[in-house]
Amino acid sequence: MTAPTPAAPTPTALHDRVLEWYAGHARDLPWRRPDASPWGIFVSEVMLQQTPVARVEPVWREWMARWPTPADLAAAPPGEAVRAWGRLGYPRRALRLHAAAGAMTSRHHGRVPDTEAALLTLPGVGAYTAAAVATFAFGVRTTVVDTNVRRVLARVVTGAQYPAVSPTRSELAMAQELVPDDPPLASRWSVAVMELGALVCTARSPRCADCPVAQLCAWRAAGHPAYTGPPRRGQAWHGTDRMVRGALLAVLRASDEPVDEVALQDVAAAAGQRERCLDSLVADGLVEPLSHGRYRLPGGPEAT
Ligand code: ADE
Repeated sequence: MTAPTPAAPTPTALHDRVLEWYAGHARDLPWRRPDASPWGIFVSEVMLQQTPVARVEPVWREWMARWPTPADLAAAPPGEAVRAWGRLGYPRRALRLHAAAGAMTSRHHGRVPDTEAALLTLPGVGAYTAAAVATFAFGVRTTVVDTNVRRVLARVVTGAQYPAVSPTRSELAMAQELVPDDPPLASRWSVAVMELGALVCTARSPRCADCPVAQLCAWRAAGHPAYTGPPRRGQAWHGTDRMVRGALLAVLRASDEPVDEVALQDVAAAAGQRERCLDSLVADGLVEPLSHGRYRLPGGPEAT
């Protein structure tokens, strides 16, 4: 027998409290300001998907200063996007941003498209990015579901410590139902729930004493029962291929010249792992092999 689903809090009370909390507690982030461009919002959403705000903000500022429009980025070699990505992690995102900038320039008059359907046709843009950009940049009423939103709704509405490993239909339907009808309010609701998840309803140590919806929260009412589902994906780092790929890219980023494979051997890893990682970077288009065992970031300055 499954446990009875707790009665969901009435949306208006939930909306009012979350929105009021957001008005007083939101971080002042540059991509949330009224003067943020759709392009700035687009770049921020790609960067923020797998990287925390504190690491994204300085890199985002650099990108905006250097490439204030999609056409500016499209005109740069893709390797420059990889270089400027720094250590944000998951660097294929840099190549996808570069490709998206190219598509905006060639197919959308140099602008970020303003509908979810058109956004979804851009390279590397999935349901989350399309919804987030449509609502935050263009005020479209839609449902934005990231890990923070999923966790908040799992707790407040469903009474579970964590959501299912991947979103279920009923979970998405519930998220959709909670979006306010009024488009500007819908946008604000999405960013406010995200912020609540980032600052208060955090994964490991939620600050229920500071939570504006603690009185409405099904998880709290049930006595904070522990998660009982299948194991959740961790973000292993040390010794992983992801770490070795990052270290190899760091060597290439630090050099304006092509790098000899001997220099790449300084990256601490077993030779087999290092080679596998270099091969995968080449396969991903993040690194370009040249003659004589040399490598560079893609489309970089001609080898001398
Ligand atoms: N503000 C708008 N979108 C955001 C995101 N994805 N993460 C954090 N803050 C945001």
